[in-house]
Amino acid sequence: MKINIAESSKKINQKIILQGWVSNLRIHKSVIFIDLRDRSAIIQAVIEETNPSFLIAKNLNPEDVISLEGVVIDRPNKLVNKDLITGKVEFKIHKITILSKSAELPFEISDTSKVNEETRLEYRYLDLRSKRMQKNLEMRHKIIHFIRNYLNDLGFLEVETPILTKSTPEGARDFLVPSRIDQGNFYALPQSPQQYKQLLMVAGIEKYFQIARCFRDEDSRGDRQPEFTQLDMEMSFIEQEDILQISEKLFTDLIKKILPDFTITKKPFFRLTYNESMKKYGTDKPDLRNNKNNPKELAFGFVVDFPMFEKDKNGQWTSAHHPFTMMKKEHLKYLNTGELNKIFANSYDFILNGYEIASGSIRINQPEIQKKVFNVLGFNNEQVIKKFGHMIEAFKFGAPPHGGIAPGIDRFVMLIQNEPNIREVIAFPKTGEGRDPMMKSPSQTDSTQLKELGIKIKQ
Ligand code: AMO
Repeated sequence: MKINIAESSKKINQKIILQGWVSNLRIHKSVIFIDLRDRSAIIQAVIEETNPSFLIAKNLNPEDVISLEGVVIDRPNKLVNKDLITGKVEFKIHKITILSKSAELPFEISDTSKVNEETRLEYRYLDLRSKRMQKNLEMRHKIIHFIRNYLNDLGFLEVETPILTKSTPEGARDFLVPSRIDQGNFYALPQSPQQYKQLLMVAGIEKYFQIARCFRDEDSRGDRQPEFTQLDMEMSFIEQEDILQISEKLFTDLIKKILPDFTITKKPFFRLTYNESMKKYGTDKPDLRNNKNNPKELAFGFVVDFPMFEKDKNGQWTSAHHPFTMMKKEHLKYLNTGELNKIFANSYDFILNGYEIASGSIRINQPEIQKKVFNVLGFNNEQVIKKFGHMIEAFKFGAPPHGGIAPGIDRFVMLIQNEPNIREVIAFPKTGEGRDPMMKSPSQTDSTQLKELGIKIKQ
């Protein structure tokens, strides 16, 4: 079996097998150097003219997949390469076997920084071989792995919620999926698991989390994708302060364990109210770093006390967070008097270096208040029952007080990795126009499939 290249330095003078990609080739008259790469590392392998495999080596191309039998040997001191973890050794090749050939590459894998993004995304499987992308995927994995263990230790239960569901209002358009069995009806992909996680609280789960895929049909930006991942959390018998404390501890411990060379600007994290933030910085996500040019400085903060409602461009009241958010108890009276601009919510944003990385709130758990909030948002009672009847109904059966938060994983990893946009930390992202240049999606579908779904395309 293959030994990971990173492990090979420990196998001095042993006969082993290494397998991977030809990262680089230097062909001299009587000797050929092959830089062999696997996920763990790169090693310099060397073959001499007298070896029967020399001819194979001569005809190798970059990115061919090969298997090497040979021996790990120490390099003389003056030839040690400090840039490689295998820099103190060299691999003396006995035999080369070609496992898979590579055609001429559309771009060089060692440096993709100047390749245009459309081409990188068309050949994403090649782009992902680059060191930069492998590091981003590794960091993402480490962060998610840490979070899973951490929340498990705190007694949280990871529960998967449906992808084929019904519209959840988070302020974007839904992606719709037509039903074949129930022609003319549609599922919506979840903008977030918001309603399900609240229903899990009614179900007595008490502490829930999920590494949740969310779907929003909105224009892409550097920090937005139509499909993204949240660490979605919800807890029962909890107050706003508890949720902020848990979030603060989770992120502080995560940085300490996984990113020990980062500094946190202020501990405990910055706290400011929405009004303070707007007045002082003119934004609800100020960048509070001491040195904005330091990629290893993290200024975490919580912005609290958001207004409950705001007016949209048509003058209609909308939720500043989402309709399931609970207002401050002392402001409940304004729901009856109609003084909606006086109502502030138990909702909060979690900010980092000028980005909103999470938001959350304490939720409504009383059917009457939930109904009234929907009325304010322009739904009549009939519409409320049709769209959200299940929530109102569930709240009648002993719904505990509950609340939660949902940090965006992509945004957080983007900031940690100092990447200019979240596409760089997602294995297979969409372009700014929502396309996947590799799979060529979205794409047309054949007429039989459309017929089965009862759909006719208007030309
Ligand atoms: P919200 O809509 O604020 O709240 O989303 C929470 C976090 O998810 C991330 N995020 C995104 N990341 C990438 N692309 C997008 N299009 C995108 N949209 C959002 C951000 C954001 O801070 N259900 C509520 C949370 C709650 O109340 O518990 C929610 O989804 O980092």
